[in-house]
Amino acid sequence: MDTKVIRMDEQHIDRELLQEAGAVIRAGGLVAFPTETVYGLGGDALNPDASRKIYAAKGRPSDNPLIVHIADRETLEPIVKEIPEAAVRLAEAFWPGPLTMILNKSETVPYETTGGLDTVAVRMPVHKVAREFIRAAGGYVAAPSANRSGRPSPTVAKYVAEDLGGRIEMIIDGGDVEIGLESTIVDLTAAEPMILRPGYITKEMLEDILPRVEEDRTLMRADSGQAPKAPGMKYRHYAPKGDLSIITGTEDEVVAYINSQADRQRGMGKKTGVIGTDETIGRYHADVCKSAGVREDECTIARELYRILREFDDESVEIIYSEAFDASGIGQAIMNRLLKAAGHKVVEAGEGQI
Ligand code: TXA
Ligand code: MG
Repeated sequence: MDTKVIRMDEQHIDRELLQEAGAVIRAGGLVAFPTETVYGLGGDALNPDASRKIYAAKGRPSDNPLIVHIADRETLEPIVKEIPEAAVRLAEAFWPGPLTMILNKSETVPYETTGGLDTVAVRMPVHKVAREFIRAAGGYVAAPSANRSGRPSPTVAKYVAEDLGGRIEMIIDGGDVEIGLESTIVDLTAAEPMILRPGYITKEMLEDILPRVEEDRTLMRADSGQAPKAPGMKYRHYAPKGDLSIITGTEDEVVAYINSQADRQRGMGKKTGVIGTDETIGRYHADVCKSAGVREDECTIARELYRILREFDDESVEIIYSEAFDASGIGQAIMNRLLKAAGHKVVEAGEGQI
């Protein structure tokens, strides 16, 4: 299949082209599109065949449910059983935006879209291209991240084309995304609201709106013997081809440890890499040293992380060391993704391994 690429950004919406993209969805086809978090792989959420096609194109297990994207508040009612008070309040505060809510589904939503579950994940993105596209597509676009299963979510259209070119009808290239990590997921179907996946909307932000928000206990741990509540979180996502470990300690300890390990690995003929920050990157002497951003502003790190993981693959780096990040605010989402990428391999630099 030939994948048609169309280009537009939020300042230059081309409604005619979006009608064409919408028609692809209404006919049961697939279109990748930009959102503020990462690129999505869209299909008609109410068409079971389209959902099946999404799983096939991604190479994704079909028990891993899709997020239904909407553009307007009125379109929520028909796809859910009820809208709890907490959902009304979160929608008022964070929609449109990088928040996904899990609600009980109505019969309108096929089980193919929800991976067999009676609940449905719903998100209203704020990206203007995404919203106009969803409207043109009929209002309900099921969209996982637009990567092949197991690869980092794409933050630019080039990576969508790399993973899905030839497998889908169309890609809308809207340039770089703004946030770079997937939306925060909150489950509103249990007794207390619970975060199933951390993201740009943090626990603190949610607790400004709701009295109490719990967290899935599996988010930051290796294996507590418990399955994560979002089916997709159990897979080892975002794993680079190289062997990635996260190094903790003071800045001096981390730099010294990484440099000595990198020397040792290089001595054994391995290509080594470092994920550092603007503040530290000049201190490393591995083969490939990449700054993820500015420690002072962790949003810059969120935006670059997936691109960097892909670049290490492209450059065939075999051993990768990453600095750790503060697990507060957006830092929690960064560490959650980084821990998964590293298979939870964390080394304390101060403990005499040098
Ligand atoms: O930012 C995002 O959310 C992006 C953009 C494209 O909107 N989408 C995204 O979709 O990250 P995906 O499919 O890569 O991740 C969806 C996650 C998976 O971990 C899945 O298991 C979980 O949401 N999920 C979906 N429906 C669920 C449900 N009914 N109950 C629990 N978890 C659910
Ligand atoms: Mg994904």
